[in-house]
Amino acid sequence: MRSKVSELRHKIKRLETLIDTSMVFSGILDIDDLLDTVMQKAEEVMGAEASSVFRIDEKRRDLYFITARGEKGKEAKEIRVPMGKGIVGWVAEHGKPLLVPDVRKDRRWFRGVDEKTKWVTRSIVAVPLIAKGKVIGVAEVLNKKGGRKFDKGDLDLFAALGNQIAIAVENASLYSDLDRLFLSSIRAIVEAVDAKDPYTRGHSGRVVEYALHIGRAVTRNKDKLKEIEISAILHDVGKIGIPDKILGKPGRLTRREQKYMERHPEFSAAIVEPIELLRKLMKNILHHHERMDGSGYPDGLKGKKIPLVARIICIADAFDAMTTDRPYRKRKSARTALRELKRHCGTQFDTRLVNVFINEFSKNRLS
Ligand SMILES: [Fe+2]
Repeated sequence: MRSKVSELRHKIKRLETLIDTSMVFSGILDIDDLLDTVMQKAEEVMGAEASSVFRIDEKRRDLYFITARGEKGKEAKEIRVPMGKGIVGWVAEHGKPLLVPDVRKDRRWFRGVDEKTKWVTRSIVAVPLIAKGKVIGVAEVLNKKGGRKFDKGDLDLFAALGNQIAIAVENASLYSDLDRLFLSSIRAIVEAVDAKDPYTRGHSGRVVEYALHIGRAVTRNKDKLKEIEISAILHDVGKIGIPDKILGKPGRLTRREQKYMERHPEFSAAIVEPIELLRKLMKNILHHHERMDGSGYPDGLKGKKIPLVARIICIADAFDAMTTDRPYRKRKSARTALRELKRHCGTQFDTRLVNVFINEFSKNRLS
């Protein structure tokens, strides 16, 4: 008995370590990636063929998949399970773990998911996910490998792992709330800066949209896309340091005013610098007015020396500037603006990225 308990402890410890290290080292901040990693480890420890995590939708009184691993995971994700229905619905309603060694012998078994996914469930262990005393979801493992059935030992082990999974679910959703809050706060600050000049109202928001269209076409890396999004939001935040009489001047700027205006990327970078999490974005922001031929500012960087994200923002920024009215000129049509981008490929803009943008534009009809 003693050895069984210590074996269990050992397994839990091992899983905890795996979860901790994978979260810390890979910097997984996305709820899907995080849970997928956690459940992959849970499957290994439990010797299961597949696993799922459900979250309760309080309003609809049902459960939806947030993770569905295994062969039919993709199909399963479309399905919602009513509260009280099936094994998962029972666990959600009663807040108790449940061992079902053979699903065909359990009256609670709801075959709807299997019918839709063509998966064959034999054996299940399901546990409630409890955070702050409340059931927030259910985790389950399906079919013990090697044709065996789950037993009481598996139930105890998975019930213990359930606490870890609940913490992961809760942390991930707290993180995503925080992330949303953070993004909406910096957006609000930037919108206030944009609004200082009636001609740039909404500018940063549109630049984010265009930059992300280019970004999604060149990378699938979520961290890189987040980097593009935040850098694009903040690229012009330094305009807060430019006097209103220069920003809102109805005519062309004098040389001196122009020189001053050209300092805004430095001001933007200086605003970001003290925020440790954003420091790595400084270079993207500082260099968004560099040109491929080295004639841009502030450092006259050339070609690939200009960070990729800065080259993306540069295109998005120029396109938005051309397609909105300015005090001294009317806006250009999207077609004309795209032609302008093309004309300055290689000198001002990165040719490959302009082509990507034009391609995305015709595909998605951005406007
Ligand atoms: Fe700018």
